[in-house]
Amino acid sequence: MKRIILSLIVVYFGNISANDKTTNGNFLKADPSQCLAVPQNERLDCWPGSDGNQEKCESRGCCWSPPNSVRGLPNIPYCFYQPKAESYKFTNVSELPDGISAFLERSSKSPYPRDVSTIQLIVTYQSDSILRFKIIDPSNPRFESPFPEIDLPQPKTENPLYKFNIENDKQGFKIIRRSDDSVIFDASDLSNFIYSDQFLQITTKLPSTNIYGLGEERKRFRVSTDWKQITFFNHDAAPQDNVNIYGTHPFYLLVENSTNAHGVFLKNSNGLELVLQPTPALTYRAIGGILDFYVFLGPTPSDVLKQYQEVVGKPKMPPYWSLGFHLCRWGIIDLESTKKVLQRNLDAGIPIETQWNDLDYMEDHNDFTYNKSAFGGLPEFVQELHKQGRRYAILIDPGVSGSELPGSYPPYDRGVELDVFVKNSTGQIFIGKVWNSLTTVFPDFTHPNAYTYWKEMLKEFHDLVPFDGAWIDMNEPSNSEWPYGCPDSELENPPYRLNTDGGALHEKTFCMTAKQHLGVHYDIHNLYGISEANITSRALSEILGERSFIISRSTFSGQGRYGGHWGGDVYSTWDELRYSIPHLLDFSLFGMPLMGSDICGFNDNTTEPLCNRWMQLGAFYPFSRNHNSEKLMDQDPAAMGEQVIRSSIKALNIRYSLLPFLYTLFWHASKNGSTVARPLMVEFPDDPNTYDIDTAFLWGSALLIAPVLEDNPSSISVYLPKGRWYNFYDRKPLNSKGEYFEIAVDRETIPLFIRGGSIIPMQTPANTTEEVRKSDIKLLVALDEDGKASGNLYWDDGVSVDVGSDYTVLEFSAEGNKVDVTSSNLGRTPPPKISSIEVIGNGNQNMMADILGIDRYPVKVICGNPTQILYYITH
Ligand code: GLC
Repeated sequence: MKRIILSLIVVYFGNISANDKTTNGNFLKADPSQCLAVPQNERLDCWPGSDGNQEKCESRGCCWSPPNSVRGLPNIPYCFYQPKAESYKFTNVSELPDGISAFLERSSKSPYPRDVSTIQLIVTYQSDSILRFKIIDPSNPRFESPFPEIDLPQPKTENPLYKFNIENDKQGFKIIRRSDDSVIFDASDLSNFIYSDQFLQITTKLPSTNIYGLGEERKRFRVSTDWKQITFFNHDAAPQDNVNIYGTHPFYLLVENSTNAHGVFLKNSNGLELVLQPTPALTYRAIGGILDFYVFLGPTPSDVLKQYQEVVGKPKMPPYWSLGFHLCRWGIIDLESTKKVLQRNLDAGIPIETQWNDLDYMEDHNDFTYNKSAFGGLPEFVQELHKQGRRYAILIDPGVSGSELPGSYPPYDRGVELDVFVKNSTGQIFIGKVWNSLTTVFPDFTHPNAYTYWKEMLKEFHDLVPFDGAWIDMNEPSNSEWPYGCPDSELENPPYRLNTDGGALHEKTFCMTAKQHLGVHYDIHNLYGISEANITSRALSEILGERSFIISRSTFSGQGRYGGHWGGDVYSTWDELRYSIPHLLDFSLFGMPLMGSDICGFNDNTTEPLCNRWMQLGAFYPFSRNHNSEKLMDQDPAAMGEQVIRSSIKALNIRYSLLPFLYTLFWHASKNGSTVARPLMVEFPDDPNTYDIDTAFLWGSALLIAPVLEDNPSSISVYLPKGRWYNFYDRKPLNSKGEYFEIAVDRETIPLFIRGGSIIPMQTPANTTEEVRKSDIKLLVALDEDGKASGNLYWDDGVSVDVGSDYTVLEFSAEGNKVDVTSSNLGRTPPPKISSIEVIGNGNQNMMADILGIDRYPVKVICGNPTQILYYITH
């Protein structure tokens, strides 16, 4: 009751500003003829949320009309703005050397408390292809997210690809692509624009419906504009339709009708809601922070992604070994069972690179302990793995137990000493519960002492159990109990309720009033995972003296620079198998290429046919791990029977033979912001047939992966963009005009196609990546229609932290019978020698040049200078 009275007072007295259009605290009624003029697809929602009705709507001065849709889509607004409703108007615009500064005044109040009556728009012409516009409260600084950590050079432009226009008698603005006048960001109508304390809203009309990104959510790759709502509030929930899940990446890539592409990133860590409607238009709603947009002008999708990653950070180079196959599951309750499962897979011929343990290894599920009876001998086991050239990774939850006997559990005692735990609103340690027996307390990874604390914990445990990689889980952050409740406040119950899973914002997480060094949890909830990933990744590198490997369940924009991600608690269903592809491709767009879903599915029992196909697809996830929930059937490949074993070996052997190529793609990604698992649309933006494809993807530009997503069809339909392709298995050429091919399939093969024009460096598959790395390099040269091909190889020691210090890059090019190999950089750790070159597509005669077997094919090697080696192949 108290809250209602207070907010009424705010409504009445808060806006006695000029031009207040209210009478008795209410808005003027909308004009019915104006309301009728609004086409249904162009309605801008005036009462978002489910608690509207006609009376409430009209009290906001908005139009009310039930949608006339037979489909009854829930998100078509009943209550919408009348055209040209007033909000803010530009009052003062100044051109600056690198942009614009403008002020806007609110001319009538919004329905939300505490409008900021004067706001400032700051436009920065960052570079020819990157533009930033930021809308702030110039009088009272508001919360601004410190992540992603952005470090851009001084703005500099020569020929900007855009112009920023203030429009319609200063009632809105547009960003326009200079080359063809297409409007990239259209906020020329600000009728629904709101900038109040806890509700910020802006709409942009979109130039097409080819829009991608905006995750993390379970959805198709091309995002629906059919009144699709996406909520960003990091949350522990299995991927399912229309539910906010683990990560927040408010970035989209859009392909315009001209096939030019652009991207838009909103940097804001508060809870967000986005609505895509068929206009097409996109509405952003934020429940705090500021509006801070970066716009990327491309003009190709690859350019857009590169520009985005210039801003948010490029992905971290993973250690070589992390590209091997990983074996994991929850519910392996002791070391004996861990060894047994590993051994049966090795015996079956599955190349296991890394053995994992879930929280089962811990004592009472307490971080930085291991159960000395069930997992006695764990340190020796890890040393044994290392001797075999294998690795070991462990699960680490962010929260530590808050209920151990004093002096018995350093992670708690030391945390108290360093004062690093998250606090509640009155300054005591915030208590929750995750897996620990009684209570859980949570490190504040934004605290200045957090690095010291976390590194110390990791190091002490690493001294006991020399693990190689960390799997940081439950860091949305997840929490299931609030023994002291959450105090009632406008942070807990903001004026606008996001459509988050479970209702309350604190559902499955901290109270919104919880305090961290950077601010209240309400503002930084979405940053918990990225702040943990940042610290874990740095600390592990220091401890290991090697490149660290982490995967994090919760993510935020720019997190690729700290490590990878997995798809979370996916169900073992055919649907999830399919959705794992758009999920992977979304993270390619987000600059987090090290990604893959739990192979064979996590929740519920898998089946043999499903696991068979999932092992095939999973062998081509950049991060490839079979993982399963507790109390379910075993689903490691060896447990699934002969068929799955055969498929797994076949697919994994191909993966392992392609490791030099895959690693090279990661290098390009970390250097240039390119993609590893690449959507067809990104590689072929001029071909609209690719825009909706999310059942197939590429590795780089050279290999097309078209998994079978059903049990046992006799064939599948595969779209091959225009050009020459080769079936990976029989090397037969397929000349495509940009068309679907019916490809016969069997149960143990994943269809793969090599793109004409590519040179792929390969090696001989083996049981570990270390073994593979010792084998000779073989070049697979797939000529295009003009008889040409090119490619490259990046090589280093696979683990050093300083990626740019000692490496080799070989450039390959081929024309007809001649293959050139040059090196643009020669490191101290050279790649193995190139011992064979296979050329395909040279007329009907495939050539195989074995450089060692000079008698078989005369190979002339010319060594001009040490950085140039030419192999001439004559048939
Ligand atoms: C979470 C993780 C899952 C893990 C489980 C137990 O559900 O997403 O991968 O196995 O916790 O630690």
